[in-house]
Amino acid sequence: MERTNSKRLDSFELTISDITDADLDALHALSMSVGWPHRAEDWQIVRELGKGVVARDAIGRVLGSAMWFDYAPDFTNIGMVITSPRLQMLGAGRWMMNHVLAQTGSRAIGLNATRSARRLYSSLGFIAERTVYQCNGEAVAPPDGSLPPGTRLRALARDDLDEIAALDVAAYRADRRPVLARLLEISKGVALVRGDQIAAFSLCRRFGRGHLIGPLVAANDEDAIAVTRPHVADHAGNFLRLDTRQKSGPFAEFLAQSGLPVYDTVTSMSLRRPWLPEEAGSEAPIIYALATQALG
Ligand SMILES: CC(C)(COP(=O)(O)OP(=O)(O)OC[C@H]1O[C@@H](n2cnc3c(N)ncnc32)[C@H](O)[C@@H]1OP(=O)(O)O)[C@@H](O)C(=O)NCCC(=O)NCCS
Repeated sequence: MERTNSKRLDSFELTISDITDADLDALHALSMSVGWPHRAEDWQIVRELGKGVVARDAIGRVLGSAMWFDYAPDFTNIGMVITSPRLQMLGAGRWMMNHVLAQTGSRAIGLNATRSARRLYSSLGFIAERTVYQCNGEAVAPPDGSLPPGTRLRALARDDLDEIAALDVAAYRADRRPVLARLLEISKGVALVRGDQIAAFSLCRRFGRGHLIGPLVAANDEDAIAVTRPHVADHAGNFLRLDTRQKSGPFAEFLAQSGLPVYDTVTSMSLRRPWLPEEAGSEAPIIYALATQALG
């Protein structure tokens, strides 16, 4: 008969429950267990903005999470999918994702997949569309640069919500107004004004190890740089992060010169219909920086 003092068991009995009932500290511990930088406050924000589930073991410990953000009647963004390292590769991720997919009905879905999650999402039918470059580091004060002709910068105020939400819808192609409203409360915002209209905007808030710039919506690199420069200057010498799909060009070069080299990449993937606009092109506004990988 086996008589050791400990035994490793691979069979966990998991139950799924609503994320609103989970302790923020438990969620924070879960994301730290996979090396994610989120603070409990960052979890608080995503939990306010989306729906989600946690997987608990027999004694109620949180060992998994998955969230979804219903931005439109026909579009959902999935994020915060985590399985505790001691439970990985045992089917928990797939089980949670199947649960989430069942909740999203026939909605089209977008998400940003880490390397370890790509295989899971591919096997569920998700198609890879674009790479996201996670740029971060110790910000370096950028050299002064001139603004695009005919433009000026100003701080964003709460009553700019309608205008930035309209710009964001044009770029994101789903209405993230509740996200913008909440982030505006906790961010410093910068608008680039052309004529009497906001042509580009960016928000910057505390997140993870320091500050994060996003979302950032602009129609070209020059406008995007104009609304990024003030945040880089504000945080010179401190940790700053920006997640972008711009691989090259003036904006990507500006980030590298600002002390924000590419640190990691994730892959934007979609299910049921293509998500992101074509890469090259028009002067339509695009998402230059993600709100976060989970929020899109
Ligand atoms: C991604 C993650 C949620 C997968 O959870 P999981 O519980 O291990 O997933 P499953 O056991 O259901 O495995 C699903 C598939 O992914 C594969 N997989 C799991 N971890 C993997 C890894 N590190 N690298 C490559 N493939 C991996 C499994 O082999 C399985 O594929 P198969 O069914 O074809 O054999 C988990 O690895 C994790 O939390 N990682 C850290 C956080 C993260 O990156 N989250 C994703 C955010 S988009």
